[in-house]
Amino acid sequence: MSTALSDRDILRELAPTAERLLNDHLRKAKSWNPHDYVPWDARMAHMTSGFAKPDAEQVFLRSVAYVTLQELATRISHRNTGAACEEPIAERMLQHVAADENLHMIFYRNISAAALDLVPNAALRAITSVVTRFQMPGLTQPSFRRNAVLLAEHGIYDLRQHLDVVLRPVLRAWRVFERTDLTGDGARARDELHTYLDDLEIRARRFEEQRERAAARRAERAATAG
Ligand SMILES: [Fe+2]
Repeated sequence: MSTALSDRDILRELAPTAERLLNDHLRKAKSWNPHDYVPWDARMAHMTSGFAKPDAEQVFLRSVAYVTLQELATRISHRNTGAACEEPIAERMLQHVAADENLHMIFYRNISAAALDLVPNAALRAITSVVTRFQMPGLTQPSFRRNAVLLAEHGIYDLRQHLDVVLRPVLRAWRVFERTDLTGDGARARDELHTYLDDLEIRARRFEEQRERAAARRAERAATAG
């Protein structure tokens, strides 16, 4: 199949798949109401501006690749936050949210898989572009970086989880490294992705070592203070 399909062509081709996946999603989703847990005003105060739109071309391919990763990343961090906060209401609510995020992820992951089969080279380029630039939602919020560091320090969401629980399983589901339908720029994009993952593995290991050293120092200080 040619890689010269426009966003509109791709959308038209994938419409029946989207319909089927949406029906799957609606069958599996359990409805629940956040107001049963948190007052409306408090919830509104937490509304954010959403994610930044990627530039110009192949917006569709990049959007579905981005939200696949983002839904899975938020699923992981919501689940870990729920476990870490030791607060029964928050934990129950975050379990609901995490279960919803998982269904969203499956929807977008399957749409992306269909797009990969339809336009493999363009889809792989979009995936590589998204994976190598990925940022968690909330980048525009004040204190985003400081909070991201806190989340990583406490094991809520860190590079190791990003690599092992988000990136690798999704790329495996898309059979990125087994595909035989990539040529030209699609094959180049896959090579770039491979190099990026190798580099991320090194960074994740380094981060884990630093975190362990910091924890050991804290324990030592606590021991001498006590
Ligand atoms: Fe979601």
